Amino acid sequence: MNENVTMPAKEVVLEVRNLTKYFPIGNTMRLKHVHALNDASFVIHRGEIVALVGESGSGKSTTARLITRLIEPTRGEILLHGRDMLKHESSGASLAYRKAIQMIFQDPYGSLNPARTIGFHVERPIRIHKKEKHALESVHELLASVGLSPADEYAQKYPYQLSGGQRQRVAIARALAVEPEIILADEPISMLDVSIRMGVLNLIEQLKEERGIGFLYITHDLASARYIGDRTIVMYAGHMVEGAESTELMDQPAHPYTRLLLSAVPNPEAGLTTRVVQARGEIPSLIDPPPGCPFAPRCPKVMDICRQTMPDATKLSEDHWVRCHLFDLDQKEQ
Ligand SMILES: Nc1ncnc2c1ncn2[C@@H]1O[C@H](COP(=O)(O)OP(=O)(O)OP(=O)(O)O)[C@@H](O)[C@H]1O
Ligand SMILES: [Mg+2]
Repeated sequence: MNENVTMPAKEVVLEVRNLTKYFPIGNTMRLKHVHALNDASFVIHRGEIVALVGESGSGKSTTARLITRLIEPTRGEILLHGRDMLKHESSGASLAYRKAIQMIFQDPYGSLNPARTIGFHVERPIRIHKKEKHALESVHELLASVGLSPADEYAQKYPYQLSGGQRQRVAIARALAVEPEIILADEPISMLDVSIRMGVLNLIEQLKEERGIGFLYITHDLASARYIGDRTIVMYAGHMVEGAESTELMDQPAHPYTRLLLSAVPNPEAGLTTRVVQARGEIPSLIDPPPGCPFAPRCPKVMDICRQTMPDATKLSEDHWVRCHLFDLDQKEQ
């Protein structure tokens, strides 16, 4: 092999930097803030699935809602192909941005109108975004591409005539209708029967491979993160605490929190069952929290510094980083 030939760098489609969301609560006399997301930074490459794993309330959906611009961040940057969307589009997201970044939710039924056919739901985004008048062919193609065949029959059905897994496929077909570059999938399989979860995950994998779509796959479930995520990021109490290529993260976890999660999941490859990340011990309040690492009160390796400052990310290998003073100090001593 010619050593001078270098592999082309993977194309970064979406990058977020120091994305932060404090929700104001209370009244003006006693205004407080829920620190839902703190300095989240990560990238999604073309055709890459990034899994975001964390307990309930750790900030996963907030991350996705900020990226879709459903809510505005307190600070931070969201870059699409290097262009800062917050600077260029002062309020809300442009049509082009909404086309590039699509979202699918936990409960596909909630976003489908029970009085309209499946064909109507898939045709609508094509008409709005692509201005295609004769969209029927595209509708049928899309339904077939998400495994709903014969497409002409599915197009005439109503949402109640479909199973949960089929409805999630419709939601995916709608997202695909505008040819997005990134799909944010917020717990897309958690409400589905265990027996049909794998089919939806395999569809996501197929879309990544065949269309080069990048995914942010949000889950409570370490097994599905390992199964489908090229990389996995672990969240705790509004902080991204560790990220790595998924098998490396699960085989060589560095952060004491990731270690705790994995110690409770003896064999994450055993199947897509109910191996979910659940609260063990007290999760700290996110309302005006004290400085320092939020895991400090539960951490078996806690040091004085952990209660004072949140560490920056330390790089452990090319694709593996951790925010923990144990590694931070190691590096400073070298
Ligand atoms: N509009 C809001 N106002 C105040 N607090 C909010 C608001 N939206 C979310 N939060 C809080 O922000 C924190 C993070 O919520 P988020 O929905 O991002 O968590 P999550 O990781 O998606 O949890 P789950 O796994 O339960 O879906 C929670 O404490 C939540 O109560
Ligand atoms: Mg959520």
